[in-house]
Amino acid sequence: MKKEIRKIGIITGGGDCSGLNAVINGITKAAINKYGVEVVGFTRGYSGLFKNTYRPLDLRSVSGIMHEGGTILKSSNKDNLFNYRTQRLDGTYEYKDVSDDAVQNLKYLGIDALIVIGGDGTLTSARDFYRKGIPVVGVPKTIDNDLPATDVTFGYNTSLETITDALDKIHTTAYSHDRVMVVEVMGRNSGWLALEGGLAGSADVILLPEIPYDINKIVEKIKQRDAFGRNFTIIVVSEGAKPIGGKQKVREIIEDSADSVRLGGIGNEIAHQLSKLITEHEVRYTNLAYIQRGGITSQFDRALGLLFGVNAVDLLMEGGAGRMVQLRGRKITSIPLEEVVGSGKVGETSKGGGKQVDPEGQYVQAARAIGISFGN
Ligand code: F6P
Repeated sequence: MKKEIRKIGIITGGGDCSGLNAVINGITKAAINKYGVEVVGFTRGYSGLFKNTYRPLDLRSVSGIMHEGGTILKSSNKDNLFNYRTQRLDGTYEYKDVSDDAVQNLKYLGIDALIVIGGDGTLTSARDFYRKGIPVVGVPKTIDNDLPATDVTFGYNTSLETITDALDKIHTTAYSHDRVMVVEVMGRNSGWLALEGGLAGSADVILLPEIPYDINKIVEKIKQRDAFGRNFTIIVVSEGAKPIGGKQKVREIIEDSADSVRLGGIGNEIAHQLSKLITEHEVRYTNLAYIQRGGITSQFDRALGLLFGVNAVDLLMEGGAGRMVQLRGRKITSIPLEEVVGSGKVGETSKGGGKQVDPEGQYVQAARAIGISFGN
């Protein structure tokens, strides 16, 4: 017989984004009001589950947090409990599976089920805890919008607003100084933030991981604009963009992160190259970096976060453990975690299976139709 769920634990893992607090709000209020279930929030992602650091969540503690970026529970992009880094006495590191300790902690705290909010890496561990017999429901999150199992993730819309606002600001200074402005945005291996942000912010060139570029084509575009009397150019570069025949630029490897590669710096490289190839303009580089992850949550992300949170509780209480909530069209549905992440092996995250921009798709075609260059 299935155990009755009386207490739920929430985990927010991986890189933060706007809308996480809306999900926490939705889960806590629905659990308490609709089902009379207790809620606790583990702090700093899976680390809290291992170290037993948590805070009880009641109606008062989640009141007034809907609009705030980040997560009141804090987050961590490390702490894969199935491959956990510990330091030996001699200072070297070893990796261990400490997931049984986490399961013991859940028993000790009387927590019957988990709702895990995260991206690829975090949801892979959620699946692995489900395989260990813990009732788990997943909620997809990322600013990159690269999870194939949902039409869109919360956090993405707020980041797009930030990028659009930044591009509007960069436009005026680009115009005043006749400059070429290179603006790098996040997105990992998916160009969605660059594409939709660039479209909304009237970029002249958009460089995506999905469409390798030729630097000479970018120079051509700048010259075309000059000939047309537009003496400035805005280039939006996804952090995962790469030249034809070249490689992505890796900023950092974080060994104990479920997804260890951090991209970044390609915008700076392009700006350097352009400043050598173009004498008519000064070239400037801006990396929007972490401002894309913060700020006041947009209406869309508040609503989606709230809907995901409430539906995650319903799913759990209606026997849907082992699944993740997803948005399909305008409806919240769900999908098994097994189909969402990983290659099947415990602790292994999905490899490069992210949702990417279709180089021949409607967005790219529309952008080309209005004269935007993709550098190819
Ligand atoms: O996946 C979200 C994301 O913000 C990426 O766009 C970015 O490459 C990465 O996380 C940055 O991660 P970190 O917070 O570890 O620097």
